Amino acid sequence: MSKVFSEFDTTYFKTMLENNSLYFDHSLKKFLKNKNFGLLKKPIKYSLFGKGKRLRPLLCMETSKVFNIANDISIFCAIAIECIHTYSLVHDDLPSMDDDDLRRGQPTIHRKWNEATAILVGDALQSLAFEALSADQFRVTDKIKNKLIWRLARNSGASGMVLGQALDIEAESSKKQLEIDEISKLQEYKTGKLISWSCEVGPLIAGENSEPLSLYASKVGLAFQIIDDILDVTSSSKALGKKVGKDNDKNKATFVSKLGIDNSKKKATELVSEACEAVSVYKERSRNLRQIANFIVSRQF
Ligand code: IPE
Ligand code: IPE
Ligand code: MG
Ligand code: MG
Ligand code: MG
Repeated sequence: MSKVFSEFDTTYFKTMLENNSLYFDHSLKKFLKNKNFGLLKKPIKYSLFGKGKRLRPLLCMETSKVFNIANDISIFCAIAIECIHTYSLVHDDLPSMDDDDLRRGQPTIHRKWNEATAILVGDALQSLAFEALSADQFRVTDKIKNKLIWRLARNSGASGMVLGQALDIEAESSKKQLEIDEISKLQEYKTGKLISWSCEVGPLIAGENSEPLSLYASKVGLAFQIIDDILDVTSSSKALGKKVGKDNDKNKATFVSKLGIDNSKKKATELVSEACEAVSVYKERSRNLRQIANFIVSRQF
């Protein structure tokens, strides 16, 4: 058994994830409580409260804990990134994108309502993220807020996730098969950029060097998408809450299509080892981050 798996404590991780998700969901409900979204309220809540893993919020809050930043501060970043991530999923599922019927264990927004509603829910969630980061209740200096806002704008837009999605869609119709470095780049943008922002929250709020966590993020970000691509082949829609087999149907460029399952898993495992190494500078304070990295490569959902 490789080192990376031998230190994974499933029970410990499960408790951490569950506690964090409970706190996150409670805080998100509070944040949404008096907002007047009119007829969009229902589909917005539906999209946010499906069965999501809340991995990016967990990363925001755990990288903050490394620097002794309290949950009631980092939660605003957690809410912001989950709003952006959820918007990316709602749009990713649209007929003009991946055309999916199932997300987070329930029918996609464009199926349950209609396409216009799905587009507008995504738009609204994107704005909501920046509302969370600029809220008065988010008690950090304006300088830090600006930095977080600027970086989230960059990492989520056409220099970040949106560019990755564009490359992904482009690759689908291209006659030329992408090379592995091109796939890595595409995945760095479509998945990695939001994960990177989540991991940099702690050092950015603390005003500390973000290099170890940037490196950690680039490794776990890529590993996360490789495992997503593996699960698309090996798992079931019941376990994942979304359709499976869709990458092959759509001729997606993935590590799996290029290297096969075993080599892709090997690559993800290596990346996770490197991620753990990157945060070893934090000694015992990196325990939870190492657990998260291990979860990413061994996850079944
Ligand atoms: C799915 O992300 C989309 C990818 C970037 C692969 P998650 O697997 O984190 O989705 P939820 O939040 O748990 O639904
Ligand atoms: C989605 O990647 C990435 C973003 C939403 C930015 P996928 O298309 O592989 O995600 P799933 O498999 O539909 O969750
Ligand atoms: Mg997609
Ligand atoms: Mg998709
Ligand atoms: Mg996928």
